[in-house]
Amino acid sequence: MSVREDILELFEQNRGKYLSGEELAARFNVSRSAVWKAVKQLEAEGYEFDASTGRGYSLRIDSDVISKSGIEKYLGNEAGRYDIRVYKTVTSTNTVLKEMAADGAAEGTVVAAEGQTAGRGRMNRRFHSPLGTGLYLSILLRPVINAGEALFITTAAAVAVARTVEDISGKKAGIKWVNDVLIDGRKICGILTEASLNMESGEMQYAVCGIGVNITPPAGGFPEEIRDIAGAVFDDPPGSDVKNRIAAGIIKKFMEYYNMLPEHEFFTEYVSRSVTVGERITVLGRGEPRKALALSIDSSCGLLVRYEDGSEEVLNSGEVSIRR
Ligand code: BTN
Repeated sequence: MSVREDILELFEQNRGKYLSGEELAARFNVSRSAVWKAVKQLEAEGYEFDASTGRGYSLRIDSDVISKSGIEKYLGNEAGRYDIRVYKTVTSTNTVLKEMAADGAAEGTVVAAEGQTAGRGRMNRRFHSPLGTGLYLSILLRPVINAGEALFITTAAAVAVARTVEDISGKKAGIKWVNDVLIDGRKICGILTEASLNMESGEMQYAVCGIGVNITPPAGGFPEEIRDIAGAVFDDPPGSDVKNRIAAGIIKKFMEYYNMLPEHEFFTEYVSRSVTVGERITVLGRGEPRKALALSIDSSCGLLVRYEDGSEEVLNSGEVSIRR
């Protein structure tokens, strides 16, 4: 590990406590100037320190920057199961992780970032990923399942996100079919699962489950085109290291569900959190938009809808918008 990483790990383990430059230099066998440089580098990355003559530096309790050691702290004794890579900005955490997957990265590799320059959403849409106000996270899986089961990966992720943000914010989180997590009727999270299939055997080589959470609204608000639908978990930065806590919470819960994917243990909760069933909706992404009523979610996560002409269909792909 670099001096920066060593020092950050120790600060993360001792948030709110002062660590002197002398103590850090001796511990990592480096000069005090190397310690000072590492702290300045961390400050430039957004970490917030208090400094006190004679006492040293203290990583503020409310400093809220995603870091490997920060996420690992909340993963506790499960941390060793993951290979977590954290970046300030990437093109897309899904793109980066897919490249790593193609190079042989193991299940449990996680890429997280503070911002994305080319964040991708479903149906070839862009996912607004401004620096500093969101959490963008992708998890690499190597499941032994057929393509038909893949929808359950996304479903499990939606439940993991809903539970985690609800636990941490105290706000009720719902799920709009198939994978949007909503708070107060606004989308605070989108999920994009991408898989690579072996065309000959039909087996899945890997799947990358990408999760984007709006932690606070971006400075200047959401862009015009999503202003009416997008929201954030918190109205103002809550401090208290929420990004690392939310990242760890999502990883833990998601992997718990994923490890029992065939049992679909999370499915009952997915249905009970649905904000779609019973609503008048518009079915999108399958030719002309069609008005329908959402009737139920079946055991394969398909959405049973009744169109205005009385015909019924189970949707396994596409998207719906809820009509108000
Ligand atoms: C959607 O709502 O259409 C899905 C959005 C998925 C966004 C996440 S952010 C992390 C990962 N990287 C991406 O480029 N996309 C997913």
